[in-house]
Amino acid sequence: MIKPISGFSRLSKKEKIDWLAKTYLKNQPEDVAVLRQYWNEDSHLQRLHDEFTENTLSNFYLPFGLAPNFLINGDLMAIPMAIEESSVIAAASKAAKFWGTRGGFKARVIDTKKIGQVHFKYNGNKELLNRFFTSVKPKLLQAVKPITSNMEKRGGGVLDIQLKDKTAAIEAYYQLHCEFETRDSMGANFINSCLEKFAEVFENEANKDPHITSEGKTLDIIMSILSNYVPECLVRAEVSCPVEELNENKDIEGKEFAKKFIEAVKIAEVEPYRAVTHNKGIMNGIDAVVLATGNDFRAVEAGVHAYAARNGQYSSLTHAGLEDGIFKFWIEIPLALGTVGGLTSLHPLVKLAMDILQKPNAQELMKIVAVAGLAQNFAALNSLTTTGIQQGHMKMHLMNILNQHQATEEEKKVLIEYFTKNTVTHSSAVAQLKKIRSL
Ligand code: MEV
Repeated sequence: MIKPISGFSRLSKKEKIDWLAKTYLKNQPEDVAVLRQYWNEDSHLQRLHDEFTENTLSNFYLPFGLAPNFLINGDLMAIPMAIEESSVIAAASKAAKFWGTRGGFKARVIDTKKIGQVHFKYNGNKELLNRFFTSVKPKLLQAVKPITSNMEKRGGGVLDIQLKDKTAAIEAYYQLHCEFETRDSMGANFINSCLEKFAEVFENEANKDPHITSEGKTLDIIMSILSNYVPECLVRAEVSCPVEELNENKDIEGKEFAKKFIEAVKIAEVEPYRAVTHNKGIMNGIDAVVLATGNDFRAVEAGVHAYAARNGQYSSLTHAGLEDGIFKFWIEIPLALGTVGGLTSLHPLVKLAMDILQKPNAQELMKIVAVAGLAQNFAALNSLTTTGIQQGHMKMHLMNILNQHQATEEEKKVLIEYFTKNTVTHSSAVAQLKKIRSL
């Protein structure tokens, strides 16, 4: 029987791997070799990666690719993408090329406000709490000056603190609902440090004030944390063109294409089962750029999906319409991104991604990421409403199938050629591989 281990984090990397191999891997040297295979020769780089997180044994690679030809607000950009899924980068590149000859993508940041909250319980009089909050608010703002002074020099800081009464939802529950501007940093550490200071001062001041805390009245801080829901840190990207220019596919007229495309978006607006997949496709593009630029894709995912459900039903993040012969397709999404701090200055590939993007500031990165999401969705809907998704997807997936079956370079060449004229399915790829091997 396996026993729990204590002090695992204090073991050296070798000791950790030995323990793992002995305990879970039947001591197979091949398993340990897999871990070692992904170590980096350069010990500095390896140490850097080891220290990003805890209990590291090896590295987990993701492909780092490039989608060129993105015309965004008049600038031609190449977008780095970190993603394992086949077809995603090809689809982004295709959409970029398509819109590059139709005016390109237009993007603008709508707002950059971020939110954090101190959650607390108070069992006293609401009116007294309100008055106490008003009197203590300047002290709260003053107390975070050592944390905010640098951010203020960069044009950021605390924008506001409001007291919110949440007692209708939970008895005695209130919040300090705080708004922040964090400029080019994602701002998680900044916001959390400010919030913890607010909480400390707020509680101390409350405990000193007999109007607030006496005769069984208590103010208890529950927790202080930023919110990854950032509906006011919002960016919009759009494409538009005369409907007759939507004629890339010679079999379908622009008008017909637009009609079906708009119907497909409408379905995602009203039907949550479709909306989730529709938005998943958008996140294929968004996450890939967020990851390549060293940003927190879990935070982005959580915030984006909450935004997609903001009206009480999960819905599409993109919208499309046709007005006066002009087809328009757009996205509005919340994105809390950073271009300074975190991994951005530590991870060599992230630094390179930022260089490829011409060192964007946070607002510029928001626009690029939104465009990547819109492009991805355009490509997906383009395929779905015309040829279907599998034709292109399986062609891209062919390489994965061939690699799974250890196809040689020569075998790959023959089968890629064969499948330019034949439909790819997993079984047909395997069957063809067997066939050429038996020749
Ligand atoms: C696959 O990763 C993404 C799609 O399913 C998105 C969509 O259906 O819109 C193709």
